[in-house]
Amino acid sequence: MKIEFLGHACFLLESSDSKILIDPFLTGNELATKTADQIEADYIFVTHGHDDHVGDTINIAKRTGATVGAVVEVAKHLFTPVGIKTLVGNIGGKQETPYGSVKFVPASHGSGVPGALACGFVLEISGKKIYHAGDTGLVAEMQFLADEGIDVALLPIGDFYTMGPEDAVKAVEMIKPKRVIPMHYNTFPAIQQDPHAFKQAVEAQNLCEVTILNPGETLEI
Ligand code: NI
Ligand code: MN
Repeated sequence: MKIEFLGHACFLLESSDSKILIDPFLTGNELATKTADQIEADYIFVTHGHDDHVGDTINIAKRTGATVGAVVEVAKHLFTPVGIKTLVGNIGGKQETPYGSVKFVPASHGSGVPGALACGFVLEISGKKIYHAGDTGLVAEMQFLADEGIDVALLPIGDFYTMGPEDAVKAVEMIKPKRVIPMHYNTFPAIQQDPHAFKQAVEAQNLCEVTILNPGETLEI
């Protein structure tokens, strides 16, 4: 499968038969190399209701017919009223999907929607497990992800709104993924970070491999 970084916290996971998009913030992201109308998706997963994560979800879902996955309150507040097909879940819940499965996992962050929790996702696609942390601080619950056998963890390192590089290294220690791709940095002045320093810190402890992707770059696993 292919993991394409589209900038900020947006990734497109592509297997032979499905395209899974996460947190598609393209319009308004000066670092994005693709526009919303260039993206095809079968599913769009949205970790929480902040603008830099909902982004172009509604437009892409309307054009492609994609199903939007989110916690119940986020789906009911943002997506159901505009006639978009949704897949709803909540923290701790796993469900089978045509491409594999999705599990909603804890994140510690505001959701932007009253009564809703922010979340992360563990997605199983083509026998690989991808963890998208969403926006989150370092939380003890991340240690439980070690049992999932995560192939690739997508972790925020920007600081300010989420965990920064030092806490993200601690997250890697708990999650024990095979590989990490850093995200949610350099998009705005407040979240400027050097991903190479993060990579060195993780690899100095032999925790796992770190792959730094620039917007538009793809990793094949
Ligand atoms: Ni946020
Ligand atoms: Mn964010």
